[in-house]
Amino acid sequence: MKHLVKITLFFFLLIGCKTNQKTNVKARGLMTQKAMVVSAREEASKIGSDILKKGGNAFDAMAATELALAVSFPYAGNLGGGGFMVYRKANGEIGAIDYREKAPLSATKNMFLDGNGNVIPGKSTLGAMAIGVPGTVAGVFAVHEKLGSLPIEDILKPIIELAYKGVVVTKKQESRIKHYQPFFRKVNKDSIIFDKLWKENDTIKYPALAKTLERLLEHGKDGFYKGETARTLAKFIQDNGGIITEDDLAKYEAKWRTPIVFQYDDLKIISMSPPSSGGVSLGQIMKMIEPYDLHTFGHNSVKSIQVITEAERRAYADRSYFLGDPDFVDIPVETLLSKSYLTKRMDGFSFEKPTSSNDIAHGTIQIVESDETTHYSIIDQFGNAISATTTINGAYGSKLYCSDLGFFLNNEMDDFSSKPGVPNMFGVTGGEANSIAPQKRMLSSMTPTIVEKNGKLLMSVGTPGGSTIITSVLQTILNVHEFNMTMQEAVDAPRFHHQWLPDEIQMEVKGFDINTINQLRKLGYVINEKESPVIGKVDGILVLKDESLEGGADYRGDDTAVGF
Ligand code: DON
Repeated sequence: MKHLVKITLFFFLLIGCKTNQKTNVKARGLMTQKAMVVSAREEASKIGSDILKKGGNAFDAMAATELALAVSFPYAGNLGGGGFMVYRKANGEIGAIDYREKAPLSATKNMFLDGNGNVIPGKSTLGAMAIGVPGTVAGVFAVHEKLGSLPIEDILKPIIELAYKGVVVTKKQESRIKHYQPFFRKVNKDSIIFDKLWKENDTIKYPALAKTLERLLEHGKDGFYKGETARTLAKFIQDNGGIITEDDLAKYEAKWRTPIVFQYDDLKIISMSPPSSGGVSLGQIMKMIEPYDLHTFGHNSVKSIQVITEAERRAYADRSYFLGDPDFVDIPVETLLSKSYLTKRMDGFSFEKPTSSNDIAHGTIQIVESDETTHYSIIDQFGNAISATTTINGAYGSKLYCSDLGFFLNNEMDDFSSKPGVPNMFGVTGGEANSIAPQKRMLSSMTPTIVEKNGKLLMSVGTPGGSTIITSVLQTILNVHEFNMTMQEAVDAPRFHHQWLPDEIQMEVKGFDINTINQLRKLGYVINEKESPVIGKVDGILVLKDESLEGGADYRGDDTAVGF
C-alpha cells in the first residue's frame, strides 16, 4: 500500500514537472500593474491598498497597514510593541526607522536573575516585567509626519471603523487563540476578550481599541504617550507588577537610522541596522557565501546547505558577541562586513565535514567596547517601497492584555541577554553588548529588506520567526536570484536554519529530500526537523522586468496580497 502511494506520488510529480517544462508556467502570486501591499491579514492589506488607491503613498500605507494589523492580527500586530522599517523612495533615496521597544527607566542589568544569579524562568517572557516601552505608535507618527502625504484622519478612520465593526476569525486564528488561552488565564487577573471560545467565522469586535485609536485621531502621538492612554497603561502595568511609568511613555521617541547596505553579485541589499542584527548578519552571511556558485550546486542541495549553514554559524557567533543597541555599545559594523574579515572567517570551511560550533566563537576584532512578529511589504504607484517588520515578540507578547485599552503588551525584554551565555526563548545567546540597561533597546533579528538590481527596485521582503528571520530573508532572496524562482515560489520553498548554538540545522518538516538529509547526517551535521515545523512566514513583492508587481504571501499563515 505504502508502495502504491509512493508510485502515485512519483507520477503526480512527474506529470507536474512535465507540464511545467512544456508550458514553462510558474506559480506566481498576485500580479498587479501599479501598487501592492502584502501582509499577514487580508483586512490590513486591503486598508493599506485602499489608502494607495486614494492617492496616498507607501508611507501613508505603512501607517495604515501597521495600525490595521494591530486590529486584525492581535497575535503580533500591535500598539503594545515595536518594529523597524526600511524604505527606498522612487528617486533612490533610502532610509530606516527604529521604533523598537526600550527598557524602562528603572530596569536593571540583573532584573531577571534570582539571588543566586540564575535566570528566573518566565520572568522575561510572561506578564508585566517582560514589557518593554512600546514604540509602534511613535514609529507610525514619525513616518507619517516626515514622509506621508494624506491627512492622518484619512488613515485612521478606516482602522477605527474596522475595530468597531470587528474582524472575522480564521481557522488558523481559532487554533492559535485556543492554544494560548491557558497562558492568558495564567497572566491576566480578570477575564479578557480572548478567553471566549472563538470559532472560525465568528466576528471579534474591538470597541476599547477603537477608543484608544480615536485618541490618536484627537491628539496624535501624544494620544498614546501622554494623557488618558498613558495614565491607564502605566497604572495597568504597575498594578500587574511591572515597572513602566508615565515618564517612560512620555520619553519614548522613534529613531531614524542609516540602513545597512551591501552588494551581493549585481544586487544592492538595503536592510535594517542595529539595534537589529538583521542587516549586519544578513550581510555577513551573504558576503561569506558570495564566492560559491550556489546556482550550480542547486536549490536545497547538500552543497548549498553546507555553504549557507557554515556562513550562518559564523555570523550568529558574531551576532551574539558584537551586536546590541548602537546608542549604548560600539559595534564594528564596517569590519564585520568587510571582505578581508569575512574571508578569514570562512577559513577552515570544507565540504568534507562540518565546522564545530565549539571551535568557532566570535571573530577577533580589536574594539573598545564591546512566536510572534509580523512583516508587511508595500510598493506604491509612484515607485516608493517600504519593508516593515513589527512585533510584540512572543505570540500575543507577554499575554498581558489591557482590556481598557484593547491591546496586548509585548514581552520584548526577553530579547535582551538576561545573563551572558543563557539562551532566550529563541535559543540565541548574547553577551555584554546586549545586556539590560535603562532606556536601552534590546537586540532584534528583524530584517526588513529592500533589494535593488542595476539601480532599480527589485524586491521588498521580510518575515517573522525570531532568530530564523535573518536566514528566511536570506533564502527568499537567494531563491529568486540564484534559483530563478517567482516571488511566490521563493516564499513557499522549504527553509532551513542554523544559528551557531545549538549546533544543528533546523529544517521544515517534510520539506527536504531524505537523501539530502542522509548525506548531511553522514558528513556529521545534526538535523532537527522536529522543533521548527515552520521557519518564517515571509511576505514580499517582486518587481518584474516589465515593471509589473508580483506578491509573495506566505501560505504558512493567512497572509494576503492586495493591490491594483
Ligand atoms: O526582534 C526580534 O528578533 C524578535 N522579538 C522577533 C520575534 C519573532 O519574530 C517571533 N515570531 N515568530
